[in-house]
Amino acid sequence: MSQTIETVFAREILDSRGNPTVEVEMSDGKNTVLAKVPSGASTGIHEALELRDGDKSRFLGKGVLKAVANVNEKISEAICGKFEPQNQQELDDFLLALDGTENKSTLGANAILGVSLAAARLAAMQQGIPLWKHLNNLFGGETSLPRPMMNVLNGGKHADSGLAIQEFMIVPKFEEFSANLRAGAETFHHLKKILAKRGESVGVGDEGGFAPRLPGITDAFEVISEAIDAAGYSGKIEFAIDAAASEFFGEKNGAEPGKYLVDGKNLSSAELTDFYGELLEKYPIVSIEDSHAEDDFDGFAGMQEKFGDKIQLVGDDLFVTNKKRLALGIDKKLANAILIKVNQIGTLSETFETMKLAKSENFGTVISHRSGETSDDFIADLAVGTDAGQIKTGSLSRSERIEKYNQLLRIEEQL
Ligand code: PGA
Ligand code: ZN
Repeated sequence: MSQTIETVFAREILDSRGNPTVEVEMSDGKNTVLAKVPSGASTGIHEALELRDGDKSRFLGKGVLKAVANVNEKISEAICGKFEPQNQQELDDFLLALDGTENKSTLGANAILGVSLAAARLAAMQQGIPLWKHLNNLFGGETSLPRPMMNVLNGGKHADSGLAIQEFMIVPKFEEFSANLRAGAETFHHLKKILAKRGESVGVGDEGGFAPRLPGITDAFEVISEAIDAAGYSGKIEFAIDAAASEFFGEKNGAEPGKYLVDGKNLSSAELTDFYGELLEKYPIVSIEDSHAEDDFDGFAGMQEKFGDKIQLVGDDLFVTNKKRLALGIDKKLANAILIKVNQIGTLSETFETMKLAKSENFGTVISHRSGETSDDFIADLAVGTDAGQIKTGSLSRSERIEKYNQLLRIEEQL
């Protein structure tokens, strides 16, 4: 019985926003697996290229038939019968060479990632072991259940709430994953009641959090604090935010040139840092992601200098899961943690390299979904297998978010 990849086939499916994305089906003749590729909205400019057709007559230009064809023709022909899924590094290196560009623009990071993730899943199945176990065998080190950061209030590009900050996350501090998830869900339901009572909208944004049109950022913290109290979790739940500040920076986002538009005010980079400082005095915020725009290195360095020894400062658009960007950030002291999104870089092996660098520098690691997701729960196993410590995969609603949390409940039983 051959253990090599026998067939690889891609198709165009839809993501949680109704936009096309890539699904890869891979088989060794006996076992067959699927991998689905997520897609961001507030994407970093330094991310690997997500190949879209640009043909306005299909899906408003967002079709992925070119990426699909790249899997079904170029990649399939090059790897089938030649590679064993157990040899992840060898396969990923080959895919990089086949693409031949720095940002994966020949084949598309969406095409490459689907194949890379499917191979890991097929390898786990061949061995009859859980995916998290196989990922841990590849990555090395410990395994652990991550602490969830749950995005209960959506702003920025993920909702029309009008709030500059993209994600208001609650982070319970119980030992067990299931206890943290329960605290998140109960708080979420209390938040819904409180918002409804105030006559606010209780419709949800892209990541399943509420998206009320609140007057400003402190109102968002106040209403979530009220929900935490009502749920009986005062002092047991902390806050994290993803500002995704590239999305409220500069003229293209309606701000003055070089300024950040927050609650109707234009702030300089340093003033924005002071604004975070005021929030930190008022609320138990333990983590701030992308506090400044992706190339505002002075802004990030200022944050790290002022708050880096007190809280976690995470680079997402700043580092784009890219080892070179992370090395730059380490050198310039721009943050103390990194967000990990597999589709920002495009292969599992490169994701591992970036995470290894982060860990060797004592950087925190947060495994993350994208705002455009699918039912694929790969990242749950990834968080466990790499001992990442933290995961953010949305709110306590919408199956494409909950599926990852539910997979972590299953893994909790296994561990
Ligand atoms: P995105 O948002 O998937 O739209 O980029 C998630 C994030 O910014 O963390
Ligand atoms: Zn982010």
